[in-house]
Amino acid sequence: MGPARIRIFDTTLRDGEQSPGCSMHLEEKLRMALQLERLGVDIIEAGFPVASDGDFEAVSAIAKALRQPIVAGLCRALPADIDRAWEALKEAAHPRIHTFLATSDIHLEHKLRLSREEAMTMAVAGVRHARALCPDVEFSAEDATRTEASYLCKVIEAVIEAGATTVNIPDTVGYTTPTEYFQLIRTLVEQVPNIERAVISVHCHNDLGLAVANSLAAIEAGARQVECTVNGIGERAGNAALEEVVMALRVRQDRLPYVSGIRTEEIAKSSQLLSNITGVHPQPNKAIVGKNAFAHESGIHQHGVLRNRATYEIMTPESVGVKVQHIVLGKHSGRAALAQRYQELGYDLAKPELEKAYKLFTKLCDVKKEVFEEDLVAILRDGLSDIPETWKLRLAQVTAGTQGYSHALVQLRHAEQEPSGTGHGDGPVAALVDAIAGLTSVRGEILDFQVRAVSEGSDAVGEVFMKVEIEGALLTGKAASTDIIEGSARAYLNAVNKALHARQLKASRQAVTA
Ligand code: KIV
Ligand code: ZN
Repeated sequence: MGPARIRIFDTTLRDGEQSPGCSMHLEEKLRMALQLERLGVDIIEAGFPVASDGDFEAVSAIAKALRQPIVAGLCRALPADIDRAWEALKEAAHPRIHTFLATSDIHLEHKLRLSREEAMTMAVAGVRHARALCPDVEFSAEDATRTEASYLCKVIEAVIEAGATTVNIPDTVGYTTPTEYFQLIRTLVEQVPNIERAVISVHCHNDLGLAVANSLAAIEAGARQVECTVNGIGERAGNAALEEVVMALRVRQDRLPYVSGIRTEEIAKSSQLLSNITGVHPQPNKAIVGKNAFAHESGIHQHGVLRNRATYEIMTPESVGVKVQHIVLGKHSGRAALAQRYQELGYDLAKPELEKAYKLFTKLCDVKKEVFEEDLVAILRDGLSDIPETWKLRLAQVTAGTQGYSHALVQLRHAEQEPSGTGHGDGPVAALVDAIAGLTSVRGEILDFQVRAVSEGSDAVGEVFMKVEIEGALLTGKAASTDIIEGSARAYLNAVNKALHARQLKASRQAVTA
């Protein structure tokens, strides 16, 4: 018998999305879900369908788009919630209803105002209702680690009897410790008589920085599903980080003889895609996916690594898809070389995409001596947006300094016209925004603004990321450029174009229903 298989349940798009600043739009969720499928996760929790129409649509789109993984939708143990989840999931190749109810006294008394008996009845009814719709049902006992163990055992036994195929034991508030959690899972394995009819799942929050350690302890006690998120994003301090759990299992096979189905070479790409979508980057020293995770700074370490990488590296950067940065191409490189380089980086470009990428690449070569892999990825992400470029930047000129207002002159392209206008503000970006608002008649408020160099050198490509509130909606604007003024103007226009696209979609939806 080989090592036991651990199912990886990814909740980046549900619990992860609940973390501040990490909300995503439908297209972004879909892009992330497709990458999670490539990563090889077993289950994708796509959202909480009853929470909003946006969540419902995202779960439904992901359910239709994915063929390999199980797609789960979260719902409270209430008939209307469960029905709404099923409505969103029913076209999935492998649907799962994930229903939950708190079981700790503190939640029952103060949040739900239910007795233990009432909660038990509600959990069982919820699971029965879900099972009548879907053969794959997960039940989560929210705040399980602060639930009295004998009551938790009774609830788990009852929901399995009612048809739950997976039982999740969340450490909702990140309170438990590895030995305590090990003992709790062991208690369930030993004391719930029908436990072998369900998969035990664990779901750990990171309030004490123990989410991954707790998840691994639970596996050793008998859990066979781990709920986690890419980059460890999630409520408050986040959830167990998928990449850490998976790599711990892979690197420490000697102590943890379990396997996951994750293609670890896709980890870096998944992490970067998420950061690119949300604008939230992991801290530099974050395990596995931080910028410094494979950097050796001290002379002694560098010396050791040069002699033998194993002196200071317990896994190779390549094993998680991190490529060692090197100069890749120059201005004399042709389309075929570019296509091959992108392919090596994991991007198979269709002809029109390659054409667009090549144009951006040659433009970049005019301003940048050395083009790094990170630059190529950044221009690709920038250039291949699905949003129509209703307004396009032709020119942006800014005068700014330490005294007085900044002034901007902007020329845009729109419907074969090239209008220009001026604007001012108390900084160069504010002046650009003022000029663009005058030309497009779309005025937004910038709530977050970040610039990040993707490679090395003063001519590095900078990724500009902003969150803009336009007509009550929060939109992200992104652009990559070697020029911060151009990048800022294009990132802002990206948000404006998204607002106009959303307006158009809404109008056409209303026309269909009218
Ligand atoms: O943290 C938690 O308890 C949850 C459940 C809904 C699974 O996210
Ligand atoms: Zn959670």
